[in-house]
Amino acid sequence: MSLDPSLVLPPPARPGDPLSAIDTPALLVELDAFERNLARMQARADAAGVALRPHAKAHKCPAIAQAQLRQGAVGICCQKVSEALPFVLAGVPDILVSNEIAGPAKAALLARMALHARMSVCVDHAGQIAALAATTAEAGSRLDVLVEVDIGQERCGVADAPAVLRLLEALAAHPQLRFKGLQAYHGAIQHLRGHAERAAAAARAAERTAAVLAELQRAGVRCEVVTGGGTGSVEFDLASGVYTEVQPGSYPFMDADYGSSEYGDALRFEHSLFLASTVMSCGNGERIVLDAGLKSLAVDSGLPRVWDDGRESGSLVYAAANDEHGIVRSREAGQPRPALGSMLLLVPGHCDPTLNLHDELVAVRAGRVEAIWPIAARGLSR
Ligand SMILES: Cc1ncc(COP(=O)(O)O)c(C=O)c1O
Repeated sequence: MSLDPSLVLPPPARPGDPLSAIDTPALLVELDAFERNLARMQARADAAGVALRPHAKAHKCPAIAQAQLRQGAVGICCQKVSEALPFVLAGVPDILVSNEIAGPAKAALLARMALHARMSVCVDHAGQIAALAATTAEAGSRLDVLVEVDIGQERCGVADAPAVLRLLEALAAHPQLRFKGLQAYHGAIQHLRGHAERAAAAARAAERTAAVLAELQRAGVRCEVVTGGGTGSVEFDLASGVYTEVQPGSYPFMDADYGSSEYGDALRFEHSLFLASTVMSCGNGERIVLDAGLKSLAVDSGLPRVWDDGRESGSLVYAAANDEHGIVRSREAGQPRPALGSMLLLVPGHCDPTLNLHDELVAVRAGRVEAIWPIAARGLSR
């Protein structure tokens, strides 16, 4: 028996489709809110005179990187070498791998990508410099190098200015590796809930960065770029006078976790990322079951919120995620519940790992599908 060649998985939707025609679970981006988020972030960075280099680990989607560049971003960040490849292939001209890399395969790929785009990378050890020097020499390429400084997160990064100076000595032996400046990123600050609490923590991180910069300056070292910051700290980073560049990632989407923080009158973004799901069972009469569980939603930062008419639902709660099922309960007994086949929109708890579960993003505006954007770097974590 020969197989029918037309038996292929159709896309979840096609441009022009109404929302009701989308095959779920499907990840949607609501374009009006998304575009306002992009414009708001760019305007704030421009007003502060600080370069915006959005983090593409949040979206992994070349179409979104291109939209950010059109707004005025100077380039993008990627967290992994393999993650950067689809962006290089899509013509993104300037990419910072905002991370340390280990292993010859990654250094070799990075050196080859540097023949096609302006690439930069972080280091915090002379061993990384030796590996990058060898692969760039072999490929005949050049790399910009940032030394990462630990400003309190206790993740990667050297401890102090003397350690930076030792790495600069190692770099000086390799003219194809150009010292560009410092990365000073503090991830733990980003999700502090209180606005004042985040402000104080960001101020401490900026002070630590400024102290390292002052000591480097006394040693005659100038840092062209000081990069860092995320969606939770960016308004403070922009005002700090320390950063020349910020690298927020989640702001185009505003996931439920970031939505739970306090912003006051400050820089705040709108929810634009939704998982469209369908009621697949309600036979029990006490709960409804959605077709979206752990395999279409990341729950590391909490369960998704049910979205209803522009706000969190007052009547339905996403109560538990199984692999392929989402259990939704009423907040109070007797409340009306969606019928079998109804579509529910969910705001994911954490955008980055949720996008990493999907092949495409369905871009919608005013209830209609406008485009399908491949999430080309999905799964690329080497
Ligand atoms: C080095 C670095 N920069 C920027 C970001 C962006 O953070 P956010 O998505 O919170 O804006 C991250 C996130 O983990 C990061 O690790």
